[in-house]
Amino acid sequence: MSSDSYVDSVRAMIWHGDRLTLLDQRYLPLDEVWIDCTDASGVADAIRAMVVRGAPAIGVAAAYGLALAAHAGADLGAAGATLGQARPTAINLHWALERMSRVAAAVAPDELAGRLAREAEAIHAEDLAANHAIGEAGAAQIDGPTGVLTHCNTGALATGGFGTALGVIRSGWASGRIDAVFMGETRPWLQGARLTAWELAREGIEGQVIVDGAAAALMASGRIGWVIVGADRVAANGDVANKIGTCGLAVLARHFGIGFMVAAPSSTIDPAAADGASIPIETRTGDEVLAWAGRRVAPPDARAWNPVFDVTPANLVDALVTEHGVLHNPDAAGLARLEDATPTVAAGPAC
Ligand code: MRU
Repeated sequence: MSSDSYVDSVRAMIWHGDRLTLLDQRYLPLDEVWIDCTDASGVADAIRAMVVRGAPAIGVAAAYGLALAAHAGADLGAAGATLGQARPTAINLHWALERMSRVAAAVAPDELAGRLAREAEAIHAEDLAANHAIGEAGAAQIDGPTGVLTHCNTGALATGGFGTALGVIRSGWASGRIDAVFMGETRPWLQGARLTAWELAREGIEGQVIVDGAAAALMASGRIGWVIVGADRVAANGDVANKIGTCGLAVLARHFGIGFMVAAPSSTIDPAAADGASIPIETRTGDEVLAWAGRRVAPPDARAWNPVFDVTPANLVDALVTEHGVLHNPDAAGLARLEDATPTVAAGPAC
């Protein structure tokens, strides 16, 4: 299956001009349910509830949400605030809203709705293009054939299309550098077991789900050469916030002499966050941990701590792959050079 047909067959969202249709990822892979959002608060609710998830996809959806607000003649400041509060860790959400706001500030009122719709479409298309570049650059780092382990879901469902870490895996599989794909189930939402396994099956890539606790045994078995993950936010010193469990994988990878690669578009880098300690980490309800499929499995008085992201220190990252290329052993100086390579988006005329 070509990458174009893949993008067509797996989409997180479809924009119709006056509404945004989202594939409800809570029900995959058992049911393919699509829901319509007709205003910004509907999009914010969908982001909060995990209908749409994954840092780049959240950013794209928020951009469309602001375009819906403009279409309805709603207060853009209020709509932006509602969208911006939907989830705290993925910087792509704020990056997209800020880019949309800069454009909104520079256009005449009668052009606002059309211009914001086009900007949201541009953000969507640019993310897809960035992911293709990330896929090629990341795969080229892999001296295969070898197996890889990924975590959570970083594919077409989590992005504007193709995927970040999963894009690297797709490219590496196509070029023969990757010959086995393992994915952690990713408790408690099972993004790996439900979403990554679904995407890989549709792509015809053989994959095996492991329980999150099997990662060390997998690495000890000698079956993988790389761990490849995405990111929700990369701090200015190279620390990486990503799905809970990622830091543990990085520690294990270093112990076992396995490469650790982070794949993310430059929209995931937050130069305002000096280090990982500055990144807000979302904590969700303990019910997500204590219950399974709507049924409580822990005793009634059990409590849970449910942080949904963790921070991997930069010194455990061997390669940070963006659409601008590969940064080995990322640190503050390398991130600053990357930031210089990232063009500022001007609020110019419609493209
Ligand atoms: O809670 P989620 O499913 O939104 O978490 C997603 C992740 O942690 C992904 O790894 C990250 O957003 C990168 S997606 C390309």
